[in-house]
Parts: sequence; C-alpha cells; structure tokens
Amino acid sequence: MKIIHLTDTHLVAPPQTLFGLDGRQRLADAVASINAEHADAALCMVTGDLTHWAEPGAYDALIEILGQLSMPWHPLIGNHDTRETARAALPDLPWSADGFLHYTLDTSAGRFVILDTVDTGKAGGRLCEDRLRWLRNELTDSLGQKQDVYLFMHHAPFKVGVNGLDLIRLANGEDLAACLRGFNHVRHLFFGHLHRACHGSWNGIPFSTVKATAHQVALIMDDETPLTGSTENPAYAVCLLEDDRVVIHDHGYLETDTSIAYNRGAPQGEDVPEHQKDWT
Ligand SMILES: [Fe+2]
Ligand SMILES: [Fe+2]
Repeated sequence: MKIIHLTDTHLVAPPQTLFGLDGRQRLADAVASINAEHADAALCMVTGDLTHWAEPGAYDALIEILGQLSMPWHPLIGNHDTRETARAALPDLPWSADGFLHYTLDTSAGRFVILDTVDTGKAGGRLCEDRLRWLRNELTDSLGQKQDVYLFMHHAPFKVGVNGLDLIRLANGEDLAACLRGFNHVRHLFFGHLHRACHGSWNGIPFSTVKATAHQVALIMDDETPLTGSTENPAYAVCLLEDDRVVIHDHGYLETDTSIAYNRGAPQGEDVPEHQKDWT
C-alpha cells in the first residue's frame, strides 16, 4: 500500500504569510504534485502543526487546500495547534470524550494508530497515563487481531542531536518505550515536528519524519544552539508499506525540471568505459 506523509503545514490565516514563506502555496504545490504523481496512494497522513497560530482562518485554508487531494487525508495535532480550535474546524474527526485526538484506521497494511502528544501550553509533548493506556489497549487488541501496527505522532520521542529540537521532544519518551516493549508488531513510527528529514530506528522500531511543507529547522548539531529556522525547500514522503518491507521516499516537490537523461553514453558519447557498455 502506498501512502503519503505530509507534516508541519503551519498555515496562517490569509492573507498573512510566515517567515516570508507562503505556506498555503507550498501546501497547494504539494497537493498538486501528489495528485499528479501519486494519485494511487491510498491515503495521506498529516502529522501535526496543521497551523502556526491556531487561527480558525488557518484551519479553513488547510481544509480547502487538502480537500483538493485525490485521496482521503487524516490529520493529527501538534504543539502549534489547539484542541479547541482544531476540534471546531474539524468536528467530524474522532475526538475522544477526554478531548484527545487519538484514533485508529484499519487499512490493508494494518492498523494505523494515531497518537495525540500535545501537552497544552508547551512546545514539547507528553503522553499522559490515559493516552498511554489507550495505546496499550490498541496494541493488545491489534496483536490479538494479528494486525501490523503503524504509529503516527507529532513529537519525536527521543533526542536527535539538534539541541533546539531535543529540548521540545516528547518529554516522556521512556514511558512510550516502556509501553511498546513486549510488542513486536509495530512496523514503523512516523512523526513530524522536526522540520527535517530524519530516519533511523529507536529501540528496534524503524522511524521516519520528513521536511515540513512550511519552513525547516537548520541542521546544527551541538548542545547549545537554540532552535534555528531554515528556508530549505519543503518535501513530502511517499511510503510503501508491504508485507516484507517499508520503503520511504522523500520528495522535494518544489525542485522541478531536475531530470537527467540517464541513457547510456550521455554525456560521454562513445567514451563510455568498457565495463559499462552493456548497461541498459
Ligand atoms: Fe512544526
Ligand atoms: Fe511541532
């Protein structure tokens, strides 16, 4: 199954822009690219910081732009969102009685478990005991149903070596790790919040995040530099979730007209070395 991972759209209410970047246009360009190149994706996951200031007009813009996607899209909230405004704008989402936006999607690849890591009023995240209990139940139930699990959340639950980001990670990642320990059916962890491409594994669970469609965060790896933005180009991820593999492609969709004619002999002509003459 192919899915799209979009994150950190950080929309602001029109006609405002953010840091001199037109986030609405960047998101609209992502939607156009997805529709043109990956319309066969089953769905699109949007891993939070849907808006920057949580203005109602920003959510309206988000709904209007993502509504142009040719596949269903499923959001979660980040620290820049507020439950109240997001819930007013997106009332049809499965908000819990406790006010959390955590839910599951049963897909042909397995159960998607969407977490709410927002710690109200803080840039960093937290999973309270109620949300951890909910996750534990979902993991137990999906294991009983023999379903693979894919986790989606906003905050990274561990340090990534960028001080400004490490300060605002999930504050109790060790509690999430303890919750996941003992389950071996979590295939992949997707999150946002980093505004950077970052892939690896955490306690044996593969993870990935992708650049924001809005601004990025500079890759400054020391222990003291505060969070520093970057105007690097945005991206989205194209993810193949198969029985034997999970494959993640980051696509810098604003970088167009980049193709190279890779046919044999170009540009060297007849100077192709002998060991490459039979390449197709
Ligand atoms: Fe963000
Ligand atoms: Fe965030």
